[in-house]
Amino acid sequence: MMIKVLFVCYGNICRSPLAEFVFKDMVEREGLSDVIDVASCATSGEHIGDPVDPRSRAELAKHGIDCSGKVGRRIRPDDFSEYDYVLGMDRRNLQYLRNMCDDDECHVGLLLDYAGGGEVADPWYTGDFGRAYRDVERGCRGLMDELKERIR
Ligand code: 4NP
Repeated sequence: MMIKVLFVCYGNICRSPLAEFVFKDMVEREGLSDVIDVASCATSGEHIGDPVDPRSRAELAKHGIDCSGKVGRRIRPDDFSEYDYVLGMDRRNLQYLRNMCDDDECHVGLLLDYAGGGEVADPWYTGDFGRAYRDVERGCRGLMDELKERIR
């Protein structure tokens, strides 16, 4: 069994790459790399091909996590059949995802649904990348607990 997780934000340079690499790190630590596949993408076309924002890269580096090689990509219609979980960072992302997918394949939600609810505020506007990291980490921890229940 392979569980595929796709994290989504507006630009795919700040929040969803944090989620992708924090969750990949957790997956590796749990020894589940053969079972859980992780990726991230954008709703917008503004940063396609761009590397992770240096401020997100720095937050990851503080925790010993490397994100080199990651570049922004936009969500595609195929992603909704390809991925088991398509998780936005805020309600605007979620609305975009719901508008894009057919109702019967709409297994979409928010990352923080797995940590008591809420949104990962966009650090592109707030400037608070530390808070974004902590929120992402909480959400990823909750998601990991849920997936481990499914696997074991
Ligand atoms: P992200 O942050 O959605 O977390 O990657 C943003 C990055 C870029 C822009 C907005 C949000 N932008 O308007 O270019």
